[in-house]
Amino acid sequence: MAGLFISFEGGDGAGKSTQLARLAQWFREQGREVVTTREPGGTALGNQLRDLVLHGEDVDERTEALLYATDRAHHVAEVIRPALARDAVVLTDRYLDSSVAYQGGGRGLTAERVEELNLWAVDGLLPEITVLLDLDPAHLPARLTGAPDRLERAGAEFHARTRAAFLERAAAHPDRFVVIDAAAPVEEIAAEIRTHVDAALARRGTA
Ligand code: TYD
Repeated sequence: MAGLFISFEGGDGAGKSTQLARLAQWFREQGREVVTTREPGGTALGNQLRDLVLHGEDVDERTEALLYATDRAHHVAEVIRPALARDAVVLTDRYLDSSVAYQGGGRGLTAERVEELNLWAVDGLLPEITVLLDLDPAHLPARLTGAPDRLERAGAEFHARTRAAFLERAAAHPDRFVVIDAAAPVEEIAAEIRTHVDAALARRGTA
């Protein structure tokens, strides 16, 4: 059985971590080794970078993009590739598409430049499936808890650009992306994700 790499993407407060935990449970019930992880912060260095980029001093957009890319490069080398090499299922809360959407779209560095930087950082590794939990940013205040971090404070227009960039990217890569309405009930979303993953595995011939 080969390793399987799945990323969860979407705006802040879209319910990614809940759905990631559900899917992890589903795979574990099938006896698969599952590695659940996140960006930024899937490693010890990553947690330090996470703290700097989310709660540190203000930085310009290129510095921000490089901090996320640094976290990602180390995360791939340290956690993701080794797990895939031992045939585990890797579920990550955010990956490269977050940088394309937030730094490329939100901050305006452009999708192409940010993708190029990050593909270099991860030496070309892309998920087999990307679950995009799409949520109208108007729902945001109700879902977020605690003090807002630097990205959450970036404003409504920033989050609208980020959402548009995610949807554009999904439309450009229909084989990899599944777009799900994050306003739907949790159970419904979980079932939709499982159906999609099942179908993808069946196509691959390893279900
Ligand atoms: P996190 O608490 O993980 O957000 P969420 O709960 O919404 O998943 O914080 C990560 C923040 O960093 C989030 O606002 C999105 C942002 N981000 C980027 O801007 N670029 C990236 O490449 C990644 C991975 C995250």
